[in-house]
This record gives sequence, structure tokens and C-alpha cells, in this order.
Amino acid sequence: MFTRAIVRKPGQSMTDGLRDTDIGIPDHQLALVQHAAYVEALKACGLDVLVLEADESYPDSTFVEDTALLTKACAIITNPGALSRKGEIHSIKQVLSDYYDNIEEVIEPSTVEGGDIMMVGSHFYIGLSERTNEEGARQVIAYLEKYGFSGSTMSVGDMLHLKSGVVYLEDNTIAATGEFVHQKEFEGFRVLEIAEDESYAANCIWVNGNVLVAKGYPKAAGTIADAGYPVIELDVSEFRKLDGGLSCLSLRF
Ligand code: GLY
Repeated sequence: MFTRAIVRKPGQSMTDGLRDTDIGIPDHQLALVQHAAYVEALKACGLDVLVLEADESYPDSTFVEDTALLTKACAIITNPGALSRKGEIHSIKQVLSDYYDNIEEVIEPSTVEGGDIMMVGSHFYIGLSERTNEEGARQVIAYLEKYGFSGSTMSVGDMLHLKSGVVYLEDNTIAATGEFVHQKEFEGFRVLEIAEDESYAANCIWVNGNVLVAKGYPKAAGTIADAGYPVIELDVSEFRKLDGGLSCLSLRF
């Protein structure tokens, strides 16, 4: 179970955020409304939510998940692979010092973004992507092992991050799309297949028994509901324009 989440409001500078997807520039006012609804949903799932003010210096800083990996025993501050995002870690490190005695840091030339790390109990799958390199994964695994956890790597092909295409929903269940549906790493899991034409909705999050799913993806929501999860649908259209999703918007611990 999670008890807390940290989020950061999107700044007006989000219009300069990184984006591969060409589906328009985010509307900041609408993003604020969607972000507030996201916070309310986390609270409704029982979380104490710390809402950080927008940081205009970093257009992508609303995607706080990429800046740290939070475990029961330690926080690991990442080193984002995107140059424009590296500075996001400083304020997050300061915030996390209120919650963690043990804080580790990924050091250059290692790069890691939190969106590439999927926690499954005490094991952490780390996606090797354009943002997370092998040295970064090695460093994270070494830190994890220091605290009694384990980690392993897997490759990320088309997606921005590992969790763009696969997430763990507890109860031995994953939601996966595309390249992640038939991975040998996931043999033995119940795999909820998210259709390719709704692949964005694979980035859903389990929060204390509920699953938050992007609004507008009815097949995905149905698949997850049919698997027995209460589904909370949230409109995150403005964050999608920056290739971000529901998991990217919070650190949950
Ligand atoms: N726009 C989010 C990212 O590329 O990291």
C-alpha cells in the first residue's frame, strides 16, 4: 500500500516541454485542471499528497516520477537522460530529505529516468531506453542490492520509457501493450493486454487497489475493470501531448 505521493503542478513553460508526439501544444490552463483532478483521485485512494509549485525553469518538471526511485528503504535520485531535465533532481532531492534518511544518487555518465523502472514487490525491472543507459541501470541495481532488493534490465524499443508500455498492477498482474505483451520476463504473470490502438492507456497506475486509467480508452478501461480492479478514469490529454502519462505525474511511496 502507498501512503504518500509527491506531484508538481505544470508550469506555463510546459508548452516548451519535450515531445515526440505531434498532437499539439498543451493547453496550460486545461493541464492545471487535469492535474488538480489527478491530485483529488490520489487523495480519494487514501494518499497524503504533497503538491509542489510549478518550476518554470524546467518545462517537463511536472513529470516528477522521472527524478527518483522510491523504495521502502531508500530513495535513489536519478540522472535524467534528457539534458533539459537534469536540473529537476535538485529540488526533488531536497524534498525527499524530509522523508528519507537513505538517499542515493545516480552519477554521470550513468543516466536513469524513473519512468524506466517498474517495481514488482522487491524486484525492479529497469528498461534500457534512450533515457536510461546500461551504466545507469547497473548503478541503480547496486544501490537496490545494498538495501536487500534486486533488479534486472530489459530493452525498450519504440516507447519513451518502460512504463509507457508496461505497468505492474500488483496481484501478479501486469498491463502491457505492443512489444511488452509477450516478453519472457513476464511469463508467470497474468498479462492484461492493452490493444495497440489504445497503447497510451497502458501507462495506468495501481493505487491501493484502484487503477487510474487515462480517459478516452474504453477497451483498456474495460480490460482492467474485467480483471477485477475498480477503475478511475482521468483525462490527461494535455500531458499526453508531452508523451507523459499517469505514472509520470507522481512519486508514490
Ligand atoms: N516530455 C516528457 C519527457 O520527454 O521526458
